[in-house]
Amino acid sequence: MKTSSEFLGEYQNVHMNVFGTPLRVMEHGEGCRIWDVDGKEYLDFLAGIAVNALGYAHKTWTEAISRQAAKLAHVSNYFATPGQIELACKLLRLAETPEGSRVYFCNSGTEANEAALKLARLHGHALANKKTEPARIIALTHGFHGRTLGSLSATWKPAIRNAFEPLIPGIEFVEASDEDDIKRAFDESDKRGPVSAVILELIQGEAGVLPVGAEYSRCVRKLCDDFGALMIIDEVQTGIGRTGAWFAFQREDLSGGITPDAITFAKGAGSGFPIGGLITFGNKVSSLFTPGSHGSTFAGNPLAAAAGLATIEAIESENLIDNAEKRGIQLREGISGLSNPLFESVRGQGLLNAIVLTKPCAHAAMQWALEHGLIINAPSPDVLRLAPPLIVSEEEMNEAIKILSSMPEYLEQD
Ligand SMILES: Cc1ncc(COP(=O)(O)O)c(C=O)c1O
Repeated sequence: MKTSSEFLGEYQNVHMNVFGTPLRVMEHGEGCRIWDVDGKEYLDFLAGIAVNALGYAHKTWTEAISRQAAKLAHVSNYFATPGQIELACKLLRLAETPEGSRVYFCNSGTEANEAALKLARLHGHALANKKTEPARIIALTHGFHGRTLGSLSATWKPAIRNAFEPLIPGIEFVEASDEDDIKRAFDESDKRGPVSAVILELIQGEAGVLPVGAEYSRCVRKLCDDFGALMIIDEVQTGIGRTGAWFAFQREDLSGGITPDAITFAKGAGSGFPIGGLITFGNKVSSLFTPGSHGSTFAGNPLAAAAGLATIEAIESENLIDNAEKRGIQLREGISGLSNPLFESVRGQGLLNAIVLTKPCAHAAMQWALEHGLIINAPSPDVLRLAPPLIVSEEEMNEAIKILSSMPEYLEQD
């Protein structure tokens, strides 16, 4: 086998340079561990950025995909498959949706949000009348919803938006967690057109695992109710057990107990197999899409559905939601108990967590951890994100905390 550096030399000759130089070249994984082509072992506390809920090579998942691949890998959406129907039923049950709710499948987080934004547009057309401007969609500062043009238009970070302007019109930003700011935006409806939807994450993952707050979520719900707008929660990173509940909106401490009009999901839903989707709550919002208004060749593909069903089956049979909650508490208590002067605080829910650093050296800290056999990442200059597989054990959590305890205080600043 070639070495990492030989592979990386070739990588750069054939791939577009959108991801920079990869950190390592990975070869295989098992449970929460992964090995690179040079044979070095890592404890993976990033899980493919909150994707590999079941870790690597989980038996239930591997067998389900292999069985399905041998039977039927893909049909078009001219046809349905049993797995796709079963998965939709399960997701509606897990999201505790009311009568008339529906699922639309796609292949990634950004696509799920594209679907949600198109839904918001259809809803907005019904709200706007000839006397007013077209309906607006509100997104939050620091929010991340993806990189395709629609989702990018609702994504805040100027560094990833600016080069692609003009983005799609009618999406505007309000200050995250600032109730007055979003009230102001709604109050301008007479002058500036109605608001068709608010799209938000309850924990802004890419911004550094920042919760918007239960009170704020309640405020958004009330404004949406008062003005007839849809509340769309992006659960791409928080969904499928990651925060210690099937979906973050089901945690009172994150959502204030509200029910959204729609949620989007992806990442952990297939535990490594690409799948995403949109769930609409109740009849009205579920009837906005009609035949031809949206679609995708791979949407609800039988292999993806098998991966989704296996993921849910393993989460349920192994009590992984409960494990996410317990291991999350262990992680936050463990980090808080360390006397590492580099660590200012720790925050998160379930297994979506961040360590806030006393210095802006997160990139070097991530590199240091990698050298010491622990995979984490740096969503911002002073924040490290820890999102291990939901199967992580008590021992593995202690092992990660031990590695982090010896992280040096002085590292190169970003
Ligand atoms: C909250 C949120 N929404 C959307 C996305 C985009 O998902 P994808 O990369 O699958 O397109 C991400 C990815 O990090 C995310 O965290």
